[in-house]
Amino acid sequence: MTEDYWGRFSETYDRNQEYVVGRELLDEITGELNQLAELGEVVEFGCGTGYFTVAITEKSTSVLATDLSDNLLEAAKTRLRDHPEVTVQKEDCLETSLMPESCNSVFMANLVHVLATPAKALEESSRILRSGGRIVIVTFTGHGMSLWQKIKMGVRFAKTWGKPPPNIRSFSPEDVESMLQETGFVVEQSKLIGNRTKALFVVGRKG
Ligand SMILES: C[S@@+](CC[C@H](N)C(=O)[O-])C[C@H]1O[C@@H](n2cnc3c(N)ncnc32)[C@H](O)[C@@H]1O
Repeated sequence: MTEDYWGRFSETYDRNQEYVVGRELLDEITGELNQLAELGEVVEFGCGTGYFTVAITEKSTSVLATDLSDNLLEAAKTRLRDHPEVTVQKEDCLETSLMPESCNSVFMANLVHVLATPAKALEESSRILRSGGRIVIVTFTGHGMSLWQKIKMGVRFAKTWGKPPPNIRSFSPEDVESMLQETGFVVEQSKLIGNRTKALFVVGRKG
């Protein structure tokens, strides 16, 4: 199960992630997050250790950072303990306990590519977002990487995390854009970022 998969690595998670995708891409993602317009009241799905939560606090009035894994939630609580604007809470992004139309923005980093039913997470995002609210999706992808770079990253992944989780996949920008549009979002920004390793950075608005 996805929860157990990532939760096994709570103590080494950040180091592993940096080794697999490289510091350059992580910094590029942070740079993109820093350029976002104000996000207001944010709900983050799949916050993991809170690595990218820190970046979005700059743009938010409050952040509810959520995840399914108890181990990773503990790591996030430790990292975010000096951020009074952040609350860390256990939630399943496919079906949260949150009120409808209760936030301005939903943020998810490196989540949609590990979910069996990513469209369900987008539907849940739409449900909890106020009208005009934004969804910010960042997700690692093999799209646009050379075969050689993919092989090398696959080896780094296997050495670090072991066998990949069952539903992991690689989206193109168009895949994520279509999923958003099918859920009623208007795509405002969509780009492929990174050099040797890649991520999608997509922003949608709820109509
Ligand atoms: C690849 S990790 C990304 C963590 C973090 N966002 C980052 O980029 O460093 C995927 C995260 O999604 C969480 N996750 C997986 N399925 C979930 C679900 N259904 N609801 C909430 N979180 C989930 C995992 O526990 C894990 O923390």
